[in-house]
Amino acid sequence: MSLSLTGIHKSFPGENGAPPLKVLAGLDCAVEAGRLVSVVGPSGCGKTTLLRIIAGLEPADRGRVLWQGAALAGPSRRVGMVFQQYALLPWRSTLGNIELGLEMAGLERDQRRAAAREYVEAFGLAGFEHSFPHQLSGGMQQRVAIARTLILKPELVLMDEPFGSLDSQTRDAMQEFLLSLWQQRQDTIVFVTHNVDEAVFLSDEILVLSRRPARVLARLEVPQARPRDRTSPASNDLRRQILSLLKQEQVGLV
Ligand SMILES: Nc1ncnc2c1ncn2[C@@H]1O[C@H](COP(=O)(O)OP(=O)(O)OP(=O)(O)O)[C@@H](O)[C@H]1O
Ligand SMILES: [Mg+2]
Repeated sequence: MSLSLTGIHKSFPGENGAPPLKVLAGLDCAVEAGRLVSVVGPSGCGKTTLLRIIAGLEPADRGRVLWQGAALAGPSRRVGMVFQQYALLPWRSTLGNIELGLEMAGLERDQRRAAAREYVEAFGLAGFEHSFPHQLSGGMQQRVAIARTLILKPELVLMDEPFGSLDSQTRDAMQEFLLSLWQQRQDTIVFVTHNVDEAVFLSDEILVLSRRPARVLARLEVPQARPRDRTSPASNDLRRQILSLLKQEQVGLV
């Protein structure tokens, strides 16, 4: 097991004297290295909080996060995150955004430009290297955001609904693109999504979270070989199973 979370607790202080909001209450889970694992769960259950804890951007109140046997307790070059909003710097070009992390790591300008240009090519952004984010389509902005994370060569990539705001055709294309990247790079991906179809299409394994405070309701293997048929009976069965688990969780919310 390469990523292991044990007994993770996290609460946020209540507003105006309200009791603390318990977001995670003893969550345990494990992800084997090299796998693409999706996390689905009701809105507001704590998915982003979970990723932020793994990325070291938010401390857990209790519990342990281990990556390859060593504690992750703060931001690390070994872990990269693609955020729910693209979080691109609007005043920087495509190249400027992609090389941001390399700049922060102190790499010389020529070296980081050369590396960023490789990513521009590989990510289908050629011709747009000097464009600013507002001049790019949603799919392109998201490719810049992914390139900016992957150029740092993290071993563990955390993705928080990266395709959530894309139209369905662009989303499908980005899913294929992500799979081809992952198959070449063989890194480990934890992919949060609202979209059950996306989880079934992409993942080796799907973790279904409960409503808040989140715990792992089910861990489902996706045995289908790739490339997958989105409409195969096996995909439909799995989708039905996950939707039924999520529906039970929604009942308690209304
Ligand atoms: N910094 C914070 N301070 C206070 N409350 C927070 C903070 N971050 C998150 N929360 C609360 O914690 C709960 C879980 O939030 P989180 O963003 O992790 O959920 P999520 O599962 O990612 O939701 P969504 O599916 O809508 O993205 C929410 O009720 C949210 O309001
Ligand atoms: Mg979220």
